[in-house]
Amino acid sequence: MIRLRGVRKSYTTGKVVNEVLRGVDVDIGEGEFVAIVGRSGSGKTTLLNILGALDSEYEGSVEVDGRQLDSLDDVGISDYRNRNIGFIFQSFYLMEHMSCLENVALPAVFARGSESMTREAALARGREVMEQVELADKCDALPNTLSGGQKQRVAIARALFNRPRLMICDEPTGNLDASTAHAILDLFRALNEDQGITLIIVTHDDMISKACKRVVRIHDGKVVEGAGEFATRERPELDPTEDGGDDTPAPTEAAAPSQEAQP
Ligand SMILES: Nc1ncnc2c1ncn2[C@@H]1O[C@H](COP(=O)(O)OP(=O)(O)OP(=O)(O)O)[C@@H](O)[C@H]1O
Ligand SMILES: [Mg+2]
Repeated sequence: MIRLRGVRKSYTTGKVVNEVLRGVDVDIGEGEFVAIVGRSGSGKTTLLNILGALDSEYEGSVEVDGRQLDSLDDVGISDYRNRNIGFIFQSFYLMEHMSCLENVALPAVFARGSESMTREAALARGREVMEQVELADKCDALPNTLSGGQKQRVAIARALFNRPRLMICDEPTGNLDASTAHAILDLFRALNEDQGITLIIVTHDDMISKACKRVVRIHDGKVVEGAGEFATRERPELDPTEDGGDDTPAPTEAAAPSQEAQP
């Protein structure tokens, strides 16, 4: 489904080049349930943004279903995002002045062509996904009257609205207590097992990563564990230390990032 080869990304501030991803190779297949772990600053969010086509400023190859993401034009990219991917973030990004149901039906506003819906159809689909996350009774509530776990379930319902094949989650339980996080994990598991949705979850939470079927670990700008069946580039030996530290590389005074030949 997704195949990354030699993905490099650096941020340049003034003369300082921060090489965040330094040749990432990873494969993610249809229906997988994958955790991405690594220290703070190791480039997990950067990687998700590239996977989700939120960021197109990178080197290397990102292939989705056999197509290079960078070969798609703007319309192709927004279709890829809207039709295939549900995004879930640590902060739930709900619109406070809209009801939960309206929040969930928001993706309908961005639907184009054959996928455009009447308001009625959008709200009906919204109710359906609110039921899936067991919040049917909160459709009319405003988000700020909900608990953190409930807000995250509304955000998950919104991500489910367009029937995504892939859900990309950036620390989805980062703001939740352990038992609420557990409920969200159960929901993810059900989405993966019952609906076959592929889940990619960046997390610092051991409970989540242990429940995932594969853990992809990023260190020093590369994938050092769990790259997947076909991503077989040599990887450095690494003491699999747990998260908690800061992996932000010391910024180096350097010229433009080197252009290595990719395999
Ligand atoms: N827009 C940006 N401009 C400049 N530097 C950035 C930008 N976004 C991220 N960085 C830098 O890139 C590095 C990786 O950031 P990223 O957000 O991907 O880390 P992360 O692994 O998601 O960390 P965390 O676990 O803390 O969320 C960090 O050193 C960060 O300072
Ligand atoms: Mg992050």
